Amino acid sequence: MTVLFYPSTIDYIFMTKQRILTGITTTGTPHLGNYVGAIRPAISAIGEESESFYFLADYHGIIKCHDPERISRSTLEIAATWLACGLDPEKAHFYRQSDVPEIMELTWILNCVCTKGLMNRGHAYKASVAENEEKGQADLDHGITMGLFSYPVLMTADILMFNATQVPVGRDQIQHIEMARDIAQKFNHAFTDVFSLPEAIVDEETELLQGLDGRKMSKSYNNTIPLFEPEKKLRKLIMKIKTNSQEPGEPKDTSDSTLFHMYQAFASADEVAAIEQRYADGIAWGEMKQVLFEKINQEIAPMREQYEQLMARPDYIEDILHAGAERIRPMSKALLADVRHAVGVRRLGA
Ligand code: TRP
Repeated sequence: MTVLFYPSTIDYIFMTKQRILTGITTTGTPHLGNYVGAIRPAISAIGEESESFYFLADYHGIIKCHDPERISRSTLEIAATWLACGLDPEKAHFYRQSDVPEIMELTWILNCVCTKGLMNRGHAYKASVAENEEKGQADLDHGITMGLFSYPVLMTADILMFNATQVPVGRDQIQHIEMARDIAQKFNHAFTDVFSLPEAIVDEETELLQGLDGRKMSKSYNNTIPLFEPEKKLRKLIMKIKTNSQEPGEPKDTSDSTLFHMYQAFASADEVAAIEQRYADGIAWGEMKQVLFEKINQEIAPMREQYEQLMARPDYIEDILHAGAERIRPMSKALLADVRHAVGVRRLGA
């Protein structure tokens, strides 16, 4: 059975269609690691058998970034990226968190069932405390905002708002999905069964694209290749990828080669086998870099063109996001109505 209209609480119990949901924090510019690890698999997961919810988590963005230009620029860049990469807003729910105000209301209600102790165990919070400790700060909570402390509750509201069943995330987010399950259970137990329990989906294979220096590609290591860098710059960055000092003609090992690792993320099994042979035959690093550049660029170039066109039309993107939110708000409104009723925030006499 599939639910065509927004489900009421009772419909959720019979709902069989999987709901895949994931959010992207709007603080940066998408890079190749995001593309391979998150964007490409998410877009290819869109299909008939499941319902996909992909959204721009702008209220998560402002937790650590107090640069408004950056938040707004990043929101535009990320939206344009997903559309350029082929996300069809007719086939997936594509929206901006702040366009669904019910999420904020739900966050507050969930804050009232989530214990502080659960948040004390959050790894982002604990990392900030450890940093203060290292710096010899007398107040271990120095500079830690309530937003940072309680952000797993906001993430829980994102997920429970649409009763997502599966949440594709990076390994570092698994703990937050467990917290979401915890909070959902607490609510169901204290009031009434409103929420289904989400499951984290971690794709081990595509998870870690290496960056320029061979470590995981990540903004915090400053080793990223922005996804839609102009062609010339893309080539330049690829030429900078770290290799060892082996000479042309020397047989090379694929297992510790960032170039090979990246190539694998873009090539077919046959192409990978052919490159393995060329490593054994001693391909020169310079040549391998050229091969890699061409492979990546072949996939990216048509999307880059789309991206540039989309970036020039922010109003068009605004309309898509807005329409995406309006299409799902009947669901969030219905769920929030159930939740409010469950906790006793309801029409007098009802
Ligand atoms: N916190 C997530 C991250 O940093 C982004 C996010 C926000 C999210 N809300 C979500 C991911 C809900 C999955 C589901 O990656």
